[in-house]
Parts: sequence; C-alpha cells; structure tokens
Amino acid sequence: MCGIVGAIRQGEPVLSALVEGLRVLEYRGYDSAGIAVHTGQEILVRKKQGRLANLEGILEDGALAGASAGIGHTRWATHGAPSDLNAHPHMAGGGALAMVHNGIIENHQSLRQELAAKGIKFVSQTDSEVLGHLIAEELTAAPDEPLAALRAALARVEGYYAVALLLDTDTGPAILCARQGPPLVVAQGPGGTYLGSDLLALLPHSSDVVFLEDGDMGILTAGGYALFDAAGNSVERVPEAIDWDPKEANKGPWPHHMLKEIHEQPDVLARTVFDRMDEEAGDVILPGLEDDALRQVERIQVVACGTALHAGLVTRYAIEELARVPVDVDFASEFRYRGPVLAKNTLALALTQSGETADTLAATRLCQKLGARVLAICNVQGASQVREADAAILTHAGPEIGVASTKAFTAQVAAGILFAIRLGRAKGNLSVERARELLQGMRGLRSQMEQLLTQSKCEEMRSVARRHAAAKGFLFIGRGINYPIALEGALKLKEISYVHAEGYAAGEMKHGPIALIDPGMTIVCVNAQSPLADKMRSNVEQVQARGGVVLSVGSDQATHDLARDVCPVPTALEILSPLLNVIPLQLFSYYIAEQRGCDIDKPRNLAKSVTVE
Ligand code: G6P
Repeated sequence: MCGIVGAIRQGEPVLSALVEGLRVLEYRGYDSAGIAVHTGQEILVRKKQGRLANLEGILEDGALAGASAGIGHTRWATHGAPSDLNAHPHMAGGGALAMVHNGIIENHQSLRQELAAKGIKFVSQTDSEVLGHLIAEELTAAPDEPLAALRAALARVEGYYAVALLLDTDTGPAILCARQGPPLVVAQGPGGTYLGSDLLALLPHSSDVVFLEDGDMGILTAGGYALFDAAGNSVERVPEAIDWDPKEANKGPWPHHMLKEIHEQPDVLARTVFDRMDEEAGDVILPGLEDDALRQVERIQVVACGTALHAGLVTRYAIEELARVPVDVDFASEFRYRGPVLAKNTLALALTQSGETADTLAATRLCQKLGARVLAICNVQGASQVREADAAILTHAGPEIGVASTKAFTAQVAAGILFAIRLGRAKGNLSVERARELLQGMRGLRSQMEQLLTQSKCEEMRSVARRHAAAKGFLFIGRGINYPIALEGALKLKEISYVHAEGYAAGEMKHGPIALIDPGMTIVCVNAQSPLADKMRSNVEQVQARGGVVLSVGSDQATHDLARDVCPVPTALEILSPLLNVIPLQLFSYYIAEQRGCDIDKPRNLAKSVTVE
C-alpha cells in the first residue's frame, strides 16, 4: 500500500535519500511514485505513473538535485486510476505546500464540492488532493501557525491518514506530519531528520525510531523534530531501538526476495523458538504469559487476515489439542462487522506480520471493547498491534519483503505452537513429558527444514512445478492440522502465479470439489503420518479414479505410493508437520510463477501491508 518518506538536512541534498527511501518501500506494492522538494525558493514536484524507474527518468534534469528538504510517496490507487496526475505529492495553495497522504478521506466528496464552490481547481480525482487544498485554505487564514492550520484541516476530515506536508515556515523549509490510522515513524540521523511510513525506510539513517501515536502531529526541521499529541500538547515519545539490520532487506545474490526468505526459514525458526524453550521444565518462557495471566483464559478468539489467518488456523488445532481450550478463528474483516459475541474470559489472539493491518487492528480494538484481553503474534517491534495489545510474542523473521508471506508464516505458526504449549502447561492440561517431546521435536525442525531446502531438493521441486505449470486448475487438500496448509498452498499459488487454486478440507471433497476433477487438474495432497492418513489415502484414490493428477506432499509413504508425483518431507510429530509441509508448497508456487514469468516479489494488485480497508 502507499508509502511515505521525508528527509530534511542542513544544507545537504536529500534527493538520493528520498529515492532510496522510496526504493525500500517498493515492496509494499504501488502503481505510481513522486517526490517534492523545497529548493529554498520554491517547491518543485515530479511524479510519474508506474515503477520508480519512470520517476527516476524525469529526475535526470537535475532540477531537484540540490534541495535539502523533501517528501516522497509511492501510491497504491484507491480513488482515481493510477496516473501521473493522481500520483502524490499534490500541490496546493498556489505552490505554498506539497502534500502526501496514506489512508482514506471518507468525506472527500462533500469537501471537494465545498472547495470547488470557492473556486479551487482540482487536478486529480483523488481524495488526498482535497486534504491538500483544505490545509492550504487553513494556512491562508493562519500563515504563521502551520501546525494549527494542519490541525484545523484534519478536524474536518472523516477517515484515516498518515500525512506529510512540505512547506515554508518563518524559520525556513519544514516537514509537517500527522497520523490517524496508518503508521508514521520519525528518526533523527547524523545528518538530518527523517520520516517514513515504514521503519525499513528509516533504518539506513537511524535504528532509534519513534512511532507516532494516533492523533499525533509533528514538525521536522534539519535540527530535529517536535511532536504534539491530539490535544496539541508537546509530547516526548521514547525512541525504540530496532534490532533489524537494514542489509537484511536486500536480496543479495538471490533472484527474488521470496526465494531468499523461503531459505531463511530454518534460521527464523531457530530465532523465534529456541531461546524461549525450557526443555528441562517442559515449558516455554513467554513474558507476560505466566500462569496467573493464562489460568483464567476459557476461550480464544483468533483474528487475522490472509496468510496470517492460516497460521491462526494451525494455532487453533495446536491449542485445542494441547491446552484443551476452545478456539474460534475468524477473518478480521468479517469479525469486526458481525456484531460478535465474546464469552467471559476470552483472550483475543491477533496474528499479523506487519502489525499494521487495518482490519486486524479494528477487530482487536473491538475485542478490547467487549472486555477481552489481546495477545499479538507480530513480526514488527513497535507496530501498532504490539503497542495496543496486552501482551505480545514477537516473531523474529526479520524484514519480509516478498509480498507473498513465507518466513513470517512459519514464524507465526512456530510462535502459535509455543503459545499452545505455554497455555497447556498453565491450564494443567499438558504433561511435562509431552511438552518435552514437542520441544525436542521443534529443536529438530531446523535441520529437517534444511533438508527440504538443499539445492537438489529445490531442483526437484522446480521439475515438479514445470510438469504441472500448464494444469488448468489446482486443488489443495489436507486434513486436521494440515488443512490450513492446504489453504496456504493454494493462496501462495494464486498470489504469485495468477492461476486458479483452491484449498479444501479433504473430507469435504465429496460435497462439491470432486466435480472439478478431470485429467487437467492437479490435486496437491498435503499429508502427515497421523491417525487420519488412511482417510487421506482414500481421498487420493477417489481423485485418481476420476483421472485427476495427484502430487503428494508430506511424510506418509503409503500416500506417496498412490500418487503420480511426490514430494517427500521428513517425518515430524503431526502437530509440527505444517512447518515442514508448507516449504515444498512455497517452492512449488515460486517455481510455477517463475515458469509463467510472473513478477514474483510484487504480484499484481497485491500490497504487502493493508493499512486501510
Ligand atoms: C496482505 C499481504 C499478505 C498478508 C496479509 C496480512 O494481504 O499480502 O501476505 O498475509 O496482508 O498481513 P499481516 O501483516 O497482518 O500479517
């Protein structure tokens, strides 16, 4: 989704910092990009539809090169098609300010009519330009008080925003910013002051960053920043030290971030899990989730979106089996609008890589309103979801750049299983011996994952993918704790290869999807050695009998024996098998997308972090 950067330095040019910042944000998904700088005399804007390279092309005239204050934006179209004119920054006030905006101005139509009646000419179809003109109007009324003008304009807005303005003040060029919903982060670096909608854009300048809270406004100058809360009071927000290495966000020698991130999974698992295990005690150390906090939990409500929802479904199976606590799982976008009922002593569990997904945040705010405590499983330290939750388990996947989530998923599943063990121990429903067995199994997963990622294994998967790339459709089936892995396998394939794929509970096949099966369909059977393995085998036989082509992924040899194609996976405890089974499915999607020449890291129409509805 849209991205914001800003930089202001003492006499030093900012153009390359802005372009580099936008480059870092590319992974979030965008369809146009733009930059505005203050040259000391005037504000200049350049913006262009399409990839950042198009914008760089029009920067070559050098007009923006010497400026020491500027803002930039990557736009993901919502109101108005992707175009040069709809791209941000938007100018307003006859060149007095440039503005970039993430979010949605819900009352933009009535504001547009009002401003148009006053003679304001709009050049774009965006809701954002309306906000720019509104601010310019207020600024004309109070030219010496830009923060007050911004506050007055925002008071008229219904919706969500992260906004940055570039303008002149009585002490020279400045950047103003405000947040209500989508994230904004500021940092003071050695050479200047920086702003971003994503902390990855700030890490090259500083690892100590401040997350603005909802309602906050700020003013950035070359010497630093000042922040104000919703009431207009000056506030000090303590910087958080971020332990991500900005180099981790580079793909290095890998052809795609996604492939790099798939290969990082053994390390991600180790970082997320190993330090938290106490094998001797048969328990897991999770600060804030000690016995007292967990004993009273009687139900769990999982809310999440996309891949994170699938991790939540795996977690449901683990919690119900190990802790014997009932779990409901819902799409955050459905949960928030269906007037949900939460039983007493419900713990809401939000899984989210970014910690900024609008629907997940709204769902957990609703849970809090209904009296539930919230636990977040999140990959980004300092993210809104972590700050708003009562407790959090941080996954240590590091920055995930590929839009299709891989390593963040396995980290979420691993964290979910750790939580299930902790809850089981706190509730007295999980024996020390069984917990130890699970923890030992988890320790062994790292090398089992590595076995799935050797060069020869990847080449095998590539050949399998080539054989199936022309299939007219894909059905992924699984049972028990591997049913969510079937859903995830289908989602990965859709996301990056644009082919039709469905995930289904294998037992449901006879109630509909079996009608789809013919020799043009590939049916991916996700299996494990489990009491359900027999049932899965009969599903495979039903598929084969109807001419469907079966690819068997998992550890059940008897299922492999029935299938046309196989991808054997090392044997693990059934509860842990999703962490292995998902890897060949990620590779399968990756290689099919490669075969089809798709833009793997930036699939069409998708955004990495969906910060608006
Ligand atoms: C988007 C991304 C998915 C992700 C989902 C939830 O749709 O493309 O990869 O699973 O959002 O994101 P979250 O940050 O909440 O895990």
